[in-house]
Amino acid sequence: MAKAKTIRFGVIGPGGMGRNRVFSLNKDKAVDVVAATDTSADCLDKLEEGLGHKVARFKGPNGYQKMIDSCELDAVGVFSPHTLHYDHTMYALEHNLHVMIEKPMVCGVKNAIAVAKLAAKKKLVFLLTYQRHFEAKYVTARRLIQKGTIGDVTGFYVYMAQDWRGNGWRGSPKYSGGGQLNDSGSHYQDILLYMTGAMPKSVQGSYDFLYHGARRPIEINGSYSVELTNGAAGRLIIIGDYIKGFSDDVRIQGTKGILTMGMGSPGLTLHQPGKDPKAVPLTVPRGYPSDPGDNFAKLVTGRTTANHVPALFGAQVALLTDAMLAAGKTGRKANCATLLKRAGYSYKDITIK
Ligand SMILES: NC(=O)c1ccc[n+]([C@@H]2O[C@H](COP(=O)([O-])OP(=O)(O)OC[C@H]3O[C@@H](n4cnc5c(N)ncnc54)[C@H](O)[C@@H]3O)[C@@H](O)[C@H]2O)c1
Repeated sequence: MAKAKTIRFGVIGPGGMGRNRVFSLNKDKAVDVVAATDTSADCLDKLEEGLGHKVARFKGPNGYQKMIDSCELDAVGVFSPHTLHYDHTMYALEHNLHVMIEKPMVCGVKNAIAVAKLAAKKKLVFLLTYQRHFEAKYVTARRLIQKGTIGDVTGFYVYMAQDWRGNGWRGSPKYSGGGQLNDSGSHYQDILLYMTGAMPKSVQGSYDFLYHGARRPIEINGSYSVELTNGAAGRLIIIGDYIKGFSDDVRIQGTKGILTMGMGSPGLTLHQPGKDPKAVPLTVPRGYPSDPGDNFAKLVTGRTTANHVPALFGAQVALLTDAMLAAGKTGRKANCATLLKRAGYSYKDITIK
């Protein structure tokens, strides 16, 4: 793995989230944000304003190629609309750049595995910015599940709702790649797989396109029965047709207890038979990175070797998203092994070692 002393960093799509990520990453003294590309001059202006210095600017849809070709970068951040992530990422990897990328990594499990394989082949740092892998609540829940505190995982209920109508590019099938199921829903697919350590096996259920009674062009709501490869089965509900703000409720059931977390009952609660529910202290291991940018900067500069969100998480989530979209479209059970086979791969290709 390359160990750069400083990181010459280029930004692809410094919109709302991109700027947020870059300003946080830029706190690391090893990071030098030197270039950016966007179709909007306003977003480039706001990036420079927030950084407090000028960057090399590349405007237009092919700006990422010009930026990568001419700026002698070490790494890029990909923060563009969902369906553009694949082209932006592959071009960066082909040019030997480390990549930090926003969820939902890239659309489609076939593309996701291709990206993961290229990053691994080139021994490049590739980190997906699922920030819940850095939140004490989910890190603690994952650790308790791994330790066997709730026994074998048998079931789950994962619900998120957001007032999400699909504004801007999110409302265009050309850019969204699966509406709310693939947008905020991606985080909840991720934490289910992250905490349980399992992969998706099959999905049945439905989606709709309805927001406040009107049909939108992209998937807004979905409710699914999901089976995982460890034998657990449960319900995954992603809602965009909500009133005001955001809400969630996540429950993981095992043979010896249940973990619950969610905005209705903040923190993490352990329920065990014959005992009162117990609030679990939330902790992360010593030296744990504070956020995805911190993890990325330390990886690229050789200050850590632990990548807390490698590309294969993105590939596992892409498989689940593909299955949710296929089940919703056909009304039939989507079998994940079949989807992987159709893409030319198997579970071996998405297993995190
Ligand atoms: N992790 C989170 O909690 C979280 C939250 C919000 C958004 N996101 C993710 O961040 C990414 C961006 O979302 P956002 O909310 O910042 O959207 P945004 O619209 O604010 O930003 C997208 C940026 O990409 C630019 N863009 C569009 N086409 C481009 C092209 N061809 N080349 C270069 N730039 C282009 C847009 O002009 C804009 O500046 C998405 O992947 C989204 O899912 C993640």
